[in-house]
Amino acid sequence: MDGQATETEREWDQLSSSSSASEGEQTTSSSSYFERERHVSFLEMMYHMLPSYLQSQEINRLTLAHFAISGLHLLGALDRVDKDAVSNWVLSFQARPRDEADLNNGEFYGFHGSRSSQFPPDDNGVLVHNGGHLASTYCALAILKAVGYNFANINRESILTSMRNLQQHDGSFMPVHSGAETDLRFIYCAAAISFMLGDWSGMDQEKAKQYILNCQSYDGGFGLTPGSESHGGGTYCAVASLQLMGFIEDDILSKTVSSSGIDVSLLLNWCLQRQAVDGGFQGRANKPSDTCYAFWIGAVLRILNGYKFVDKEALRRFLLTCQSQYGGFSKYPGEMPDLYHSYYGYTAFSLLEEPGLNPLCAELGMTDFFDLGNPT
Ligand code: FPP
Ligand code: ZN
Repeated sequence: MDGQATETEREWDQLSSSSSASEGEQTTSSSSYFERERHVSFLEMMYHMLPSYLQSQEINRLTLAHFAISGLHLLGALDRVDKDAVSNWVLSFQARPRDEADLNNGEFYGFHGSRSSQFPPDDNGVLVHNGGHLASTYCALAILKAVGYNFANINRESILTSMRNLQQHDGSFMPVHSGAETDLRFIYCAAAISFMLGDWSGMDQEKAKQYILNCQSYDGGFGLTPGSESHGGGTYCAVASLQLMGFIEDDILSKTVSSSGIDVSLLLNWCLQRQAVDGGFQGRANKPSDTCYAFWIGAVLRILNGYKFVDKEALRRFLLTCQSQYGGFSKYPGEMPDLYHSYYGYTAFSLLEEPGLNPLCAELGMTDFFDLGNPT
């Protein structure tokens, strides 16, 4: 960029200099270590104020909040947030049915992604545009878990009964009740929601399993839909969903084909081949290494007990080239950080057992609550 600061970089400089936590810190660093304090300042800043370029992501407000708050949780810095304020704010996004009959009207009474998809009910109390979304619901529950909200107070029944309306005949899920694509991402969200709520009545697990198995490609990875190209995100959604549903046996690595029907040898090979010569993981064959796949594929390897085959030193070195001087991680080395790649950078470092990070629940993609003694 010929030494010219872009508008985004100037904004970052302003934001980081107004953050008390980064006072006195250098904004230039090409570090050979994980800069925990800088990451905590970065996320704290995002918790208080999002940069203007994220305006177009308003609809995904809860997802951005999940990356910031669950990220602080992973970094062991949740003291930076007001936990009651956070849980009240998250709960205000839940779509509410008028009565039990509404739960079978085809709609989904989960969480909206933001205020802009949350229209008030009409004069008869009907939500004219019910935008309850599976990914927002996953993020809402993740945040509520992080801040220690008591799940006994959540109306599971309305989320789970109405979630059945989203599952299709082929086992896949739509994310909202109408007009959306269906693929593995939303089977994963449904499985993670069921797991966090401790209740599987909202989905047909056998049908979901069949859909997942149909997504395994000839090369061993999983595409997001049957017949599509193998992809790190799709492979994570497939394997993590099967793990959450209890379909992955402990000794899976000793099998050629798992009891559920996954071709394990091909899958393991596909995953290991995604670690590139620069040490990072690519999401698909012939693509550059990208921070987030150190989690999406690293977590699959962890679930399969194959993480020991990862070249951890090389991966760590790659990830550090994506660590920003502002805190956070970028997608590719040397670029500006974003919340998505920052969060998955932290999950990747947790898989690498970096000191200063909480242990990760690979299949939920967040801090291991069970490990912290907070399973509910
Ligand atoms: C790649 O996305 C990642 C995926 C397809 C996985 C998505 C996972 C979920 C929806 C699970 C729930 C998680 C959240 C945060 C709600 P990409 O579009 O960046 O892929 P590309 O590298 O091919 O561009
Ligand atoms: Zn990425």
